[in-house]
Amino acid sequence: MQNKLRTLEVEAKKAIGEAGSLSKLEKERVHYLGRRGELTLILRGMKDLSIEERPVVGKLANQIRAHLEACIQERLAQLKGNLKAERLKKERLDVTLPGTRPQVGSKHPLTLVLDEIKELFAGLGYTVVEGPEIESDYYNFEALNLPKIHPARDMQDTFYITKDILLRTHTSPVQVRTMEARAPNIPVRIICPGKVYRRDADSTHSPMFHQVEGLVIDKGITLANLKGVLTLFAREIFGSDVKVRFRPSYFPFTEPSAEVDISCVICGGEGCRVCSQTGWLEILGSGLVHPRVLAMSGYDPEVVSGFAFGMGVERIAMLKYGIDDIRLFFDNDVRFLHQFAIG
Ligand code: FA5
Ligand code: MG
Repeated sequence: MQNKLRTLEVEAKKAIGEAGSLSKLEKERVHYLGRRGELTLILRGMKDLSIEERPVVGKLANQIRAHLEACIQERLAQLKGNLKAERLKKERLDVTLPGTRPQVGSKHPLTLVLDEIKELFAGLGYTVVEGPEIESDYYNFEALNLPKIHPARDMQDTFYITKDILLRTHTSPVQVRTMEARAPNIPVRIICPGKVYRRDADSTHSPMFHQVEGLVIDKGITLANLKGVLTLFAREIFGSDVKVRFRPSYFPFTEPSAEVDISCVICGGEGCRVCSQTGWLEILGSGLVHPRVLAMSGYDPEVVSGFAFGMGVERIAMLKYGIDDIRLFFDNDVRFLHQFAIG
C-alpha cells in the first residue's frame, strides 16, 4: 500500500507539472485528490491493514496529500502568472503610434471673402449694420423709389410671403432702415452684409446669394468719392493689375448710377462661360443716393449727399478664386471646400 501511495505521488506530481491550463490542473486535482479520486480509492484499502500499519500509512497519505496540494498551488501560481504575462503582452499599448486625427473644418470661401471685405471697409471707417431677410415691400422697394407699378421690379422677382412681405431681393433696404434711424445725423458710413433672394438660377445666378451694401452720407459727397472707394476696393481684393470698368446704368434709388465690372480673371478677358463671352464680370451696382430716397428717409438733399453700392459676394469669390460655377458654393462638397483650408 505504501508503494501504491508512492507511485501515485510520482504519477500525480508529473501530471500536475504537465497540466497546461487552469482547467486541466483542476481536472488533475479532482482525479487524484477529489472525493472519489485515486488517493481516496487507495485509502479505502486501509480497513484491511493491521492496527500498527494504519497510523503509518495514514501519516504517509496525509504527507502525500499535503505535498500534492502544495504542488497544485505552485502550478496554479505558475499558470496564472503565464496568463497575466500573455494578457499584458496582448494588451500592450504602443504610445508612440500616431493618434486618430480629428477632421478639422475650414472657413467657407464666401466667409473668407466676406471677412476680407469687412476688414477692408473697417479700415476705411465703415461700421457693419445688419437687417432682416424677411422684409416688407416698403423697405425692399417702395422707400427705394420703386413704387408698385415700377417696371424695374421685374428684374428682382422674389418669394412673396404675403402681398406685402417678401424675402429681400437686395441689401438696399438696410440703407433705408439705417437712414430712418439716424437722420438727420451725419456722417453715415456703413456696410450691410447678408443673404438675399431672387428668382434666378444658372451658373452665375443663385436663388439665394450674398450682397454687401455700402452707404455713405455726408456733406459734399460726389461721384469722385464713389469711384475712389470702389477702385481701391477692387485693387485691394483682386490685385493692382485688375481692370475696373464703371458702366452707366440705372437704379431707381441712385442718380447717376453705375455698374462696376472687373476684367474676367477666368479667361483673362478673352471671353468664357462665366463672363458670357464679354471678358467682363459685373460685381456690383452703385450710384449717388437719389434725392427722393434721401428725403423719404429724413435727410435734406439740399444739405447732404451720399453714395451707395451693392456687391455680389459670390461673384467676387468666383473671380478671386477662379470658380466657374456659382452652385459649387452651395453643394457642400468637402473636396471643393477643403481647397480653401488655410494651413
Ligand atoms: C442691386 O441689387 C442693387 N441693390 C445694388 C445697388 C445698391 C445699386 C446700392 C445702387 C446702390 P443688382 O441687381 O445689379 O443691383 O445686384 C447687385 C450684384 O449682385 C450684381 O452685380 C451681382 O454681382 C450680384 N447678383 C445679382 N443677382 C445675383 C444672383 N442671382 N446670384 C448671384 N449674384 C447676383
Ligand atoms: Mg446688376
